[in-house]
Amino acid sequence: MNVLDFGSAMGFFSIPMAHMVNPDGKVICVDIQEKMLTVLKKRAKRAGVSNLIENHICTDDSVKLEKYHGKIDFILAFAVAHEVPDQNFMFSELYKVLKPKGKLLFAEPSGHISESDFKNSVSIALKNNFIEAELLNIRYSYSILFEKS
Ligand SMILES: C[S@@+](CC[C@H](N)C(=O)[O-])C[C@H]1O[C@@H](n2cnc3c(N)ncnc32)[C@H](O)[C@@H]1O
Repeated sequence: MNVLDFGSAMGFFSIPMAHMVNPDGKVICVDIQEKMLTVLKKRAKRAGVSNLIENHICTDDSVKLEKYHGKIDFILAFAVAHEVPDQNFMFSELYKVLKPKGKLLFAEPSGHISESDFKNSVSIALKNNFIEAELLNIRYSYSILFEKS
């Protein structure tokens, strides 16, 4: 599988996902902070998965992932959306990189945001053509699995 970890930070989830996609897949780690990706690179090397990880710096108005359009099987967007100024843009960009029927696991920390903020994010995702595949139960989070229609 090709997986995209949006807002990967230092790779808390990216490195375990790299073990899961081994040997033929890739984990594309996208973050706005270069220093996070620098640390992630070192951690991936120590974990023996640097060959499976690609780092991408993005900006608030461009994820710069055109080469992955329609090629990603699974996206993780964990605890990142509340830091993104334009969630409409975020969901529209994430939609483009997914393959048809590809999945987006979207989770937000329940200690940081309200349930109504989360519902607002869900409605923005639905407006961007995502469909709800499954409601999830992840500790300390509001979470949902979306699918590309
Ligand atoms: C709270 S951390 C979550 C990290 C990781 N997903 C996790 O759960 O361990 C949020 C990360 O999202 C990144 N971020 C914030 N705004 C972003 C944006 N517009 N695009 C990509 N990453 C962003 C931050 O730099 C930070 O590394």
